[in-house]
Amino acid sequence: GAKYGQFKLVLLGESSVGKSSVVYRFIKEQFEEFRESTIGAAFLTQSVKVNNEKGEEVTIKFEIWDTAGQERYKSLAPMYYRNAHCAIVVYDITRESSLAKAKNWVSELRKQNSNNANKNMVIALVGNKSDLESERKVDKLQAFEYTREEGLLFFEVSAKTGEGVRDVFDHIAKSLAES
Ligand code: GTP
Ligand code: MG
Repeated sequence: GAKYGQFKLVLLGESSVGKSSVVYRFIKEQFEEFRESTIGAAFLTQSVKVNNEKGEEVTIKFEIWDTAGQERYKSLAPMYYRNAHCAIVVYDITRESSLAKAKNWVSELRKQNSNNANKNMVIALVGNKSDLESERKVDKLQAFEYTREEGLLFFEVSAKTGEGVRDVFDHIAKSLAES
């Protein structure tokens, strides 16, 4: 029969790196220049179809928790990443501090998940705002090296132009379909 899987995905990262914009681009294929900062978290769903290693079509339904990056919501994060199958940790290529913050999220995910069932969580590091190349502060190769050492997926994207966004979800779906 038709193959189908449901997976919990959490987005983490400093405020205003563009987590909500990336999700909005993925689901609606649109971008908003003036977006309100997320309060608490937002829940969204979207399905993608991928082929597994046997060439069978698999539908992956993402249950997405788009968390709020503002410091005052930090203590809520465990509620959203607990039992998550995958995480997208976002930074802004024009803001160095946001990569440091992203690395903190990666270690927190690793620490929490080493205790429970979800040891092989798929984690993607995503550098957003690639359209702002002239304002770049984070070297792409340096970020890539970090993800290689840590065993993470790595992407640079622009929620504004849409470049690379689809790729992130397709790759994650593909690795979930094969697990
Ligand atoms: P919190 O909800 O506070 O955690 O922020 P967030 O990470 O969800 O960021 P959000 O999506 O609200 O985007 C913050 C700002 O960055 C908004 O003004 C967006 O329009 C802008 N932005 C998001 N993605 C991009 C992008 O790819 N390029 C450019 N130039 N601006 C972007
Ligand atoms: Mg948001």
